[in-house]
Amino acid sequence: MFVTGFRCVACGATRPAAFEGFVCPACHGNLDVTYDYDAVRASMDMDAPFQSPRNDIFKYAPLLPVENIDSAPRLRVGATPLYRAERLGRSEGLRALYLKDDGLNPSASYKDRASAVALARARDIGAPIVAGASTGNAGSSMACLSASAGMPCVIFVPEKAPAAKIAQLLIFGAHVMAVRGTYDDAFDLCLEFCTKHGWFNRNTGYNPYTREGKKTCSFEICEAFRWQAPDWIVVPVGDGNIISGIWKGLKDLHALGLIERLPRLACAQSSDSDAISKAVWTLQRQTRERPGPIDWATVAIPTVQATTCADSISVDVPRDGIAAVRAVIESGGSAITVPDLDILAAIRELALLEGVFAEPAAATTWACLKKMVREQKVDPDQRIVCLITGNGLKDIANARKVAGEPMVIEPTLEAAEAGLRPLLETG
Ligand SMILES: Cc1ncc(COP(=O)(O)O)c(C=O)c1O
Ligand SMILES: [Zn+2]
Repeated sequence: MFVTGFRCVACGATRPAAFEGFVCPACHGNLDVTYDYDAVRASMDMDAPFQSPRNDIFKYAPLLPVENIDSAPRLRVGATPLYRAERLGRSEGLRALYLKDDGLNPSASYKDRASAVALARARDIGAPIVAGASTGNAGSSMACLSASAGMPCVIFVPEKAPAAKIAQLLIFGAHVMAVRGTYDDAFDLCLEFCTKHGWFNRNTGYNPYTREGKKTCSFEICEAFRWQAPDWIVVPVGDGNIISGIWKGLKDLHALGLIERLPRLACAQSSDSDAISKAVWTLQRQTRERPGPIDWATVAIPTVQATTCADSISVDVPRDGIAAVRAVIESGGSAITVPDLDILAAIRELALLEGVFAEPAAATTWACLKKMVREQKVDPDQRIVCLITGNGLKDIANARKVAGEPMVIEPTLEAAEAGLRPLLETG
């Protein structure tokens, strides 16, 4: 392990690697894991970095806080496809658009990256049980990977989480607490419970190891481009832990000298759950009026009443807000919000033009990128990656709103011919 300790993302205070807490003792801010980059560099061939027998996120072990590689789950997490999306790109005049399909992870969401590292850490320290709160994906992911490792798992979810996500939790054998309340209620309850009983808490934007797992996607993207960063990465944002993880990974690669320049990050949100975007816009306005360094310890993230249909990014109180806002501001990026109707339309377009089925949160990236094109925030020749963070099968109720209806017919050739007449005539 090349971990040197932790640094608070808000006040900058540091703690040694042996620190066992999850948040900054000085200000309760979230912690970032720090590494000895010289030692990482010395440990591998920098012309062919991260050679490993593993074909998953643990091939990047020198940049992960995992002591024993045998603590990592066996299921393949990461190594997801990066598709060149020519037809979708062309529909908006973009010539180098890519989709990173993380819906193809073991539990069908990006969250497996975080759960895998959290599980490895829990096993490293001999935790007897893992717990977590979730809008659905983080929990189903933790349940899936825990099942693969025989680790007992307790998940607090809002009672109204999509049925597929609840089904996943149950089928993987998690102890499911369906909370009569919001994700934020589930989060607070899980935290209170774990603090009282000393359980290992995987909560997003609280446990510092989730960001470490989430950063691995930026390693895969840059490696696929032969250690060059794209111009933009568009990230769906709820708590802000994915976008802060993507930024952390990019900064790791930059510190190692593996990539020369850093991309810009676009924070993609629904206008019905826009806490982080609001914070970004406020800071951008303030720095335009009064240029100078930002004192992150004084930055406040507003609370909103989230109502978006994109359940995975429906968040009132973003739990990794400061780190997420830093990612957007420090990368020279942008925060974009779109109405839910645009998100639903984007699900349809991704599926029709690229064969990629995204859940609403994931399709938000494409909906927001279209808005960026309209506002001329991106150049048509720039290399742009949209993260597709969750599979569409997780929320078919929303997909059905834009999918249309099948033609119901009698089981006869005539009925099929009548139904398919337009196709027969053109074909
Ligand atoms: C599919 C999907 N996309 C995006 C997000 C947003 O990630 P974060 O809450 O870290 O911003 C989540 C989180 O649950 C998710 O499940
Ligand atoms: Zn602090």
